[in-house]
Amino acid sequence: MSNYDLQVVSDAAELARTAAAYFVEQSRQAVAQINGCAVALAGGSTPKLLYQLLADPREPFRDQVPWKKMFFLFTDERHVPPDHPESNYRMAHEAMLAHVPVKRTQVLRMEGEKENAAEAAQDYEDILDELYGVNTPDLELVLLGLGEDGHTASLFPHSPALKESERPVVAPWVEKLNAYRITLTLPVLNNAASVMFLVSGVAKASILKEVLQTDPDPDRYPAQAVKPTSGNLIWLVDEAAASLLK
Ligand code: 6PG
Repeated sequence: MSNYDLQVVSDAAELARTAAAYFVEQSRQAVAQINGCAVALAGGSTPKLLYQLLADPREPFRDQVPWKKMFFLFTDERHVPPDHPESNYRMAHEAMLAHVPVKRTQVLRMEGEKENAAEAAQDYEDILDELYGVNTPDLELVLLGLGEDGHTASLFPHSPALKESERPVVAPWVEKLNAYRITLTLPVLNNAASVMFLVSGVAKASILKEVLQTDPDPDRYPAQAVKPTSGNLIWLVDEAAASLLK
């Protein structure tokens, strides 16, 4: 992969602090420029520490984020209700959104509870259409994680969703999970002003090396397909995850 910034920090705690500082910087810059900031929150477990840090009143970040000007989207969601242990919304809500001064209308939740995941994807697309019209959403910041199989958001290896070039949100069937997911598509991810991957732990060392240091094969490693058209791409990783990088 080319055209990205790789930042290696000591451990998961330092990764969360570094990401929090970047989150503050990007959100304040966006609010200064366009009086708002739309962020797509990553799911999974890695971002939880970051979200907790941003909301923690004992930490400097909380008072620095322009919460009232923020819009929170999600990169993807599981096909579950918002109170389900697997819900990305629930994780972000419990770690951050419930503890900071944002209105419900500032949080754009993917409705994973809908029986028909495709309908939930269409509903989210309708929300994005209201906000961005016919244009591809141009989010100020997208946070992403990296799965051990090279997936990111809910774009899994060899998924037809990787080929989606028009729709901003789709609901792919994920065979290995025996479940539907709802996910932003590459046109949205690659239209962002800034994309930050958060990768932590030795379990990610092998896939991180594959993604960053082998020839591009985005169908096999979807994270390689995240290449912002004009935005910044930052891989923020800790030493354990970076341990196999040359
Ligand atoms: C999800 C995420 C997914 C996640 C990776 C890494 O819904 O699970 O969107 O892409 O970021 O699987 O997950 P961890 O942070 O838990 O390792």
